[in-house]
Amino acid sequence: MPSVDWATGSLHGPEVRESRKTLGELKTLFLDHASAGNLPADTLLYSVQWWAPMSEGTEGGLFWGNTVIEPGKVGREYFMTQGHVHAKGDRAEFYSTVDGAGALILMGPDRKTRIEPMQPGSLHYIPAHTAHRVANTGAKPLRFVACWPSDAGYDYEIIRTRGFSARLLDVNGVPTLVDEGSPRG
Ligand code: F6R
Ligand code: ZN
Repeated sequence: MPSVDWATGSLHGPEVRESRKTLGELKTLFLDHASAGNLPADTLLYSVQWWAPMSEGTEGGLFWGNTVIEPGKVGREYFMTQGHVHAKGDRAEFYSTVDGAGALILMGPDRKTRIEPMQPGSLHYIPAHTAHRVANTGAKPLRFVACWPSDAGYDYEIIRTRGFSARLLDVNGVPTLVDEGSPRG
């Protein structure tokens, strides 16, 4: 079975799978497309490792993973994960922060967006039917672990088309949730 390095949250072992997301793949997520074009397309935004002890979609199982989001911004928006709701919407999830600083951005079915601050040791329960995305607001990589049901799945399309109702922006050096459509000063 794999092992966890608790200094970083990283997973080790032959069963571990990995994926990486670059700015080039995700630049349309960001408010400021023009600024995204100023950074190299191969800029790493985040990497994910996970252990799937059973196949995706199996009812009653659990997956374990970890994510590392690099520090940086596109314009005033922090590097962040794509964000998703679970394809099986009634599946919940735990996140816990290992290192770094950031925010868990949550949006329920009422489309109200809220944040929970992430710092080492913070433990976050993502309720069912709740879109979730993480932004790195710090100067070093943000590292967190996650545990979720093996039949939760991912719906990215809803985020790509409708997005969250608010974005986490650097406003005068302070991470601030700014409603989509409101003046951005
Ligand atoms: C699994 C989960 C995390 C994320 C990971 C990357 O349900 O929430 O493992 O998949 O943090 O974020 P996304 O999937 O939004 O690119
Ligand atoms: Zn999830």
